Amino acid sequence: MAAPALALLGGPPVWSRGWPSWPLTGPATGRHLLDVLDSGRWAVSGPWTGRESWNRRFCRRFADYIGVRFCHTVDHGSSALLAAFLALDLGPGDEVIVPGLTWVACASAVLRVGATPVLVDISPDTLCLDPAAVEAAITPRSRCILMVHLYSCMADVEAIGALAARHGLAVVEDCAQAHGATWAGRRAGSFGRIAAFSMQQGKVLTAGEGGAVLTDDPVLADRLERLGSDGRRVSRTPPRPGRPDLDEVGGLQGMNLCLSEFQAALLCDGLDRLEAQTETRTTRAAGLDRALGALPLLETLRPHAGNDRRAYYHYAIRLAPAVTGQVTAARVCDALGAELGTWVHGPYTPLSRHPLFAPGTLRALPAGLPAPALPVAEAEAGRTVLLHHALLLAGEDAMAAIAEAFAKVLGRLDALAGA
Ligand SMILES: Cc1ncc(COP(=O)(O)O)c(C=O)c1O
Repeated sequence: MAAPALALLGGPPVWSRGWPSWPLTGPATGRHLLDVLDSGRWAVSGPWTGRESWNRRFCRRFADYIGVRFCHTVDHGSSALLAAFLALDLGPGDEVIVPGLTWVACASAVLRVGATPVLVDISPDTLCLDPAAVEAAITPRSRCILMVHLYSCMADVEAIGALAARHGLAVVEDCAQAHGATWAGRRAGSFGRIAAFSMQQGKVLTAGEGGAVLTDDPVLADRLERLGSDGRRVSRTPPRPGRPDLDEVGGLQGMNLCLSEFQAALLCDGLDRLEAQTETRTTRAAGLDRALGALPLLETLRPHAGNDRRAYYHYAIRLAPAVTGQVTAARVCDALGAELGTWVHGPYTPLSRHPLFAPGTLRALPAGLPAPALPVAEAEAGRTVLLHHALLLAGEDAMAAIAEAFAKVLGRLDALAGA
């Protein structure tokens, strides 16, 4: 009997039973939101109600979870990066080293403080910053390294930390995609001078939109707090009911980057489930690595040995050159998506040619930035396939279907190439 046709070409799909939706809620989610609704305090700047705000509660719990002293919530991960660079007092004339493969906000945040993003290449093992490329990009104007943990691997925190120390640079750790990951038992977010998290809809801990900045440094923590709340900070004297529990400290030009109480309540709720979900995703991903890594036309990532627990924002797998020599990775993604009934896609376009990275289009931003060649980022972006983390919350039968879909599509490349 002939093998079934690819679903993309009209054949039967491998899996049609659907996937876990994302974001997920729990039994207490609605109750927490109603609590905020009825409390009369919807914002950090709302009246004190006689008990700790949801924002403070989340900050206390998240700092404890990551293992650092201070946490402040912000409205987006992009704002977390902006606040981090401003807290470090970066500005015109300063260079920030940014991986060439990451979300555009990483480079845009550098531009927003007037500094220059210097794009550098990535490691093919992890898709994160290549320490040798970082070292080669350091100039007398370098001030900071933006160390992004991408998709499911942590960047080499030891090598980059050592480089930064040797050259007197600050490390900002972008953990938008790494909630719960560890390196030698220490959580991502505890390695940089400041860590920036995103809690946007697709992230493993989410309030729809949201973010957080964390640090161990009390001076930076105070700057981050005032920067993000128009120069105010949470009162250190006993608050009075009916008035905001914020002191108008000033002394630093801030902005309003505050997260609402509804969002903070959602983050507290999601944090209750994060560990169990991370365990499930890690187990499922390890199974996929075994099944897909055994297929001759696929290559798994090779995380650093120190990265002893991975957090999966996306599960990533690479197509061998024998595949991309015949069909584009985008075509393979479409075929897999049709087999599985979900969106399967590739990584970001490297920032040196990303259509969303367009500094010269606003007078307020520096123009004429160089667009360096990023051969590894280009090669890996052209052959990597990503699956969203929600898929990893499905059962073992669904993981078997993913493996079957890959085997089916890779076994019919001729049909895919010819169609
Ligand atoms: C690595 C990285 N940094 C920063 C951000 C920005 O976060 P947000 O979308 O919450 O502004 C994202 C969002 O996708 C991201 O993936």
